[in-house]
Amino acid sequence: MRTYASRARAIQPTGVRKMFDLAGDDVVSFGLGEPDFQPPPVAIEAFHRAMLDGRNKYTTTAGLPALREAIAASWSHVAPGMGAGNVCITMSGTNALLNLFMTLVNPGDKVLLPEPYFPLYGPDATLVGGSAAYYPCRFENAFVPNVEELEALVDDNTVAILYNFPSNPTGGTIDEAQRDALLDFARRHDLWIISDEVYDRIIFEGSHVSFLGAGYDKVFVVNSFSKTFAMTGWRIGYIVAESLEHMKQVIKVQYYITACPNDAMQYAVLAAMEQAADYPDVLSTEFKARCDLITDRLNAMPGVQCHKPKGSIYVFPKVDVPGMSSEEVAMEALADGVLCSPGTAFGPSGEGHLRFAFTIGRDDIVRGMDLFEATLARLRG
Ligand SMILES: Cc1ncc(COP(=O)(O)O)c(C=O)c1O
Repeated sequence: MRTYASRARAIQPTGVRKMFDLAGDDVVSFGLGEPDFQPPPVAIEAFHRAMLDGRNKYTTTAGLPALREAIAASWSHVAPGMGAGNVCITMSGTNALLNLFMTLVNPGDKVLLPEPYFPLYGPDATLVGGSAAYYPCRFENAFVPNVEELEALVDDNTVAILYNFPSNPTGGTIDEAQRDALLDFARRHDLWIISDEVYDRIIFEGSHVSFLGAGYDKVFVVNSFSKTFAMTGWRIGYIVAESLEHMKQVIKVQYYITACPNDAMQYAVLAAMEQAADYPDVLSTEFKARCDLITDRLNAMPGVQCHKPKGSIYVFPKVDVPGMSSEEVAMEALADGVLCSPGTAFGPSGEGHLRFAFTIGRDDIVRGMDLFEATLARLRG
């Protein structure tokens, strides 16, 4: 009997949505990694105007040159001299990731992926016929990988490593010394680096440390406007690389995935970058206040230990309820009106953790923490 391709059968629906689908409307939701803001009004107006102006057609495969230039310029502090040719606008960060797996990974190749992970990475490797080897990002090391553990995983079939800082789900970030060590590891083994930096503008302390402009040319940075400008539904992201040669391959592949990005939407994103340039900082300031609030509340609860992230929109506390799995704890919290994700939705080492996305207002965070504290008190006896 004819059936579906093995790549489709080999992947599973994501577990992240499972709790969400079970939840009613009246829960306090720390579930989805989606900012609770709207895009800047200038962007919405520019989108409307662009459509009225007839921007309803195919664009060039890599996207609008003016937007590509603006993105390249936004990276000039780390990688000066880049231009439109270094950027490919994609239909979301999700799309950018799949493009890079298709561009860089052959069937049978191995890719090193973080664990706990953003749940797309492994299925992306599977979809292109590759395999994943997961490197640990441990709580004890503030979720930063250890190079010795990476060395133990790499072999002749390994072609790429994916880094994700600030991280979903852990909120882990790196400093320059850690970045250099991780970059040297990739260089030593001639690996491509796919650096998922979609939270680069949501930084609470110091500045974002990128793999771009750090002296290694096999680096592709994935980014997205979803979180930065609260445009998750607009589906615009991009890939940037210092090497024009490498970008040519990405752009070639993009044509066969999606032909080109959405025409009018790119004018809207450009307007956001040019006329609402401080918007990501406004969001980031609010996320920092929420992050302080939620980590302080969690750390005051018996049985909970939580790092205070230096970026992202997530905390990933260790939650100790003897005899119960993280999924069972999350289900009990849901029964009390709080939606959070079990750590195991992000890989096996998420056992004993929960992920809270602080994508709700501060009053709701307080309400949710009060409820969660009562759940824990009930479960821990
Ligand atoms: C780490 C990470 N990478 C990529 C994405 C994809 O972003 P989008 O497809 O909305 O651009 C997300 C979204 O949650 C994410 O958390």
